[in-house]
Amino acid sequence: MTETLTLVVATTNPGKLQELRELLAGLAVELRSLVDFPGMPEVTEDGTTYVENARKKALAVARWTGLPALADDSGLEVDALGGAPGVHSARYAGPSQDSAANTRKLLQQLHNVVAERRGARFRCAIVVAAPDGGELVCEASCKGRIIDAPRGTQGFGYDPVFLYEPARRTFAEMSSVEKQEGSHRAQACARLRPRLEAFLRADATRLNR
Ligand code: IMP
Repeated sequence: MTETLTLVVATTNPGKLQELRELLAGLAVELRSLVDFPGMPEVTEDGTTYVENARKKALAVARWTGLPALADDSGLEVDALGGAPGVHSARYAGPSQDSAANTRKLLQQLHNVVAERRGARFRCAIVVAAPDGGELVCEASCKGRIIDAPRGTQGFGYDPVFLYEPARRTFAEMSSVEKQEGSHRAQACARLRPRLEAFLRADATRLNR
């Protein structure tokens, strides 16, 4: 019999937990979230790369819970802006601003930029960390273009202005299932899938869990 391995996702957001459960379905891994481990102190995302931020969160959760933990970090990089907003994507328009304000700022910055120079990519890093510091790192990106004005109502963040060229639609015009076929997070999870069970099993053996 294969034992079920536990992995704590560094989030309290039920939507993110559900998305990861779908992306990692079929593995003998039970995903739990920080809702089951309340009271963890906030982790400041002050890294200069997605991997640094994801590592910091994953390790903090692994140490808090005593269980292996998964954290992701992602952002949007626009060619004409030298890769901005990048790791600052969530706070691009300021610390207390929302997605709509971030998107407005992005469109303002690109006001005079022609279509050929509006290339962009979403990037995602996933780190799975064990309480003793062992880790798995997976990264992926997906390419697109920033359009002039928002289109579509699905998704979140910069989805309404990110044109995913293979579909000729913005991520906000695609269903979550369609978005998952090409998204940066889905591709990073696809890289993680074949390595995750062995990593968790080795961790359980090492820590005699
Ligand atoms: P986090 O990695 O979930 O903290 O995401 C950082 C920020 O990047 C989000 O707040 C969004 O602004 C942006 N972002 C990351 N992934 C996506 C996506 O799939 N669609 C739209 N925006 C995204």
